[in-house]
Amino acid sequence: KRVAILISGGGSNMVSLVRSMTGDHPARPCLVLANSADAGGLARAAEMGIATEVLDHRPFKGDRGQFENALHTVISGYAPDIICLAGFMRVLTEGFVSRWQGRMINIHPSLLPKYRGLHTHARALEAGETEAGCTVHEVTAALDDGPILGQARVPVLDGDTPEALAARVLEMEHQLYPAALRRFAAGDRTPILLE
Ligand code: GRF
Repeated sequence: KRVAILISGGGSNMVSLVRSMTGDHPARPCLVLANSADAGGLARAAEMGIATEVLDHRPFKGDRGQFENALHTVISGYAPDIICLAGFMRVLTEGFVSRWQGRMINIHPSLLPKYRGLHTHARALEAGETEAGCTVHEVTAALDDGPILGQARVPVLDGDTPEALAARVLEMEHQLYPAALRRFAAGDRTPILLE
């Protein structure tokens, strides 16, 4: 299986995914694409010998349809079987999702269905949650929705700041996402639960 990974920032999840696709793993990375040329993950992908592309969304000035058409064209050129969104910060509309539905997964830093959207850790702390975590799910047109492929839980500790909680969750993301991708690539949809 060929895997394209979409990023917007440092790409720590992308690195974990790339490093996991070795040996008898059924998938291999074929592309890392960022929506900004200054995404730190691009250099990390290049260091690992992965083809990279940049498709800046800003020249499309809010014309999501045109951006997504360009995105589809660039990605299709690498013929991926699976798309992994990994810290990709652009909302994808039905127009794009429908062309990849069932072949596109995402990691979100909350225990879905709680805390869809942004600032998940601050919101969880604000709500007095005693545990938090991350979720890998199939991407559908509804934001941070779709069938859950895996979840990992972490405790919320006294005095946690959003940054401290984010770091604890990110550690688990780096374990959960590779495990969920391996199962997904093997055609197994059994959800993974990590404590
Ligand atoms: C992190 O906040 C992670 O929780 C979310 O995207 C952000 C950046 O991740 N998935 P990465 O280091 O770019 O993979």
